[in-house]
Amino acid sequence: MQIDRYRFWSALLLGCAAGCAGNGQGLDQNGQPISDGGGGTTAITADFQSIQDNVFTPICSKCHIGASAPEGLQLDAGHSYNLLVGVASVEQPGLQRVFPGNPDSSYMVHKIEGLPGITGGQMPLGETPLPQTTIDAMRQWITNGAPNAPAAAAASGIFAVQTTVPLDKSIVRSAPARILVAFTADVDASLVNDTSVTLERIDGPQSVVSGAAQRMPARSALAAHNSAVLVITPDAVLAPGIYRVTLRGSGGGGLANMSAAALGADSTFEFTVEAAP
Ligand code: HEC
Repeated sequence: MQIDRYRFWSALLLGCAAGCAGNGQGLDQNGQPISDGGGGTTAITADFQSIQDNVFTPICSKCHIGASAPEGLQLDAGHSYNLLVGVASVEQPGLQRVFPGNPDSSYMVHKIEGLPGITGGQMPLGETPLPQTTIDAMRQWITNGAPNAPAAAAASGIFAVQTTVPLDKSIVRSAPARILVAFTADVDASLVNDTSVTLERIDGPQSVVSGAAQRMPARSALAAHNSAVLVITPDAVLAPGIYRVTLRGSGGGGLANMSAAALGADSTFEFTVEAAP
């Protein structure tokens, strides 16, 4: 299942790399010409890079950036893909922000279209809604399976942690229901378990007595439609305190990508859950 999806995305990316390079602009991931809706000025095409450059970076990342990004959703280049694709919405956890293959079930689309069922406001918040041609290109990208781009980054083979939610050393006001770790490539799901991924409280009463960190029971799994994102769900609500996530990256059973390239070293990040005022 994981491998099939990986091949599917790779095939789309390679198809574009081969097909788009010599054939000029304006082709979608299936090689079909993109209509600009007759306006003639819209440069946006139905690929991730174009959406990043025309929408997420100039319009959305004004607000959706850094440790205080709304709902933990950072939309600057380098963060957006892995925090959107296959990742559950915070406002409506039953929906994924971007559900590959299905724009109607993608909460991001609900938010930019301002559908009546959304929580909070239409995006971009308090500004002119996106033009329909832009929304159409974003919908088409999702219909095409929401492939990542550029292909070069995926092909570089470097396997590392790209970003986390919460960010390292950050302070969060309320206990996160889930912790996200986005990697630069799909993770081998068979290596994700209680040994390779651990969540500990490092300031708790138990740690003070014994000097040892206190293991917090949690479930770790890859996001349903994006194997580059690890989702850690604590079994119980995290009490105010300091927490550390450790990703084992070396030795037998350390986290690795689909080509068996390991992280190389253990990777950790810490965050603080603030006490209620
Ligand atoms: C002016 C600031 C601002 C801008 C610009 C903005 N947002 Fe938001 N966004 C917010 C805030 C605040 C929230 C949370 C409250 C709400 O939903 O109304 C939010 C919530 C969201 C959510 C819900 C996340 C979840 O996990 O449930 C999505 C999706 C989203 N924004 C996408 C976008 C996109 C795409 C753009 C660009 C087209 C954008 N936003 C532009 C401020 C902004």
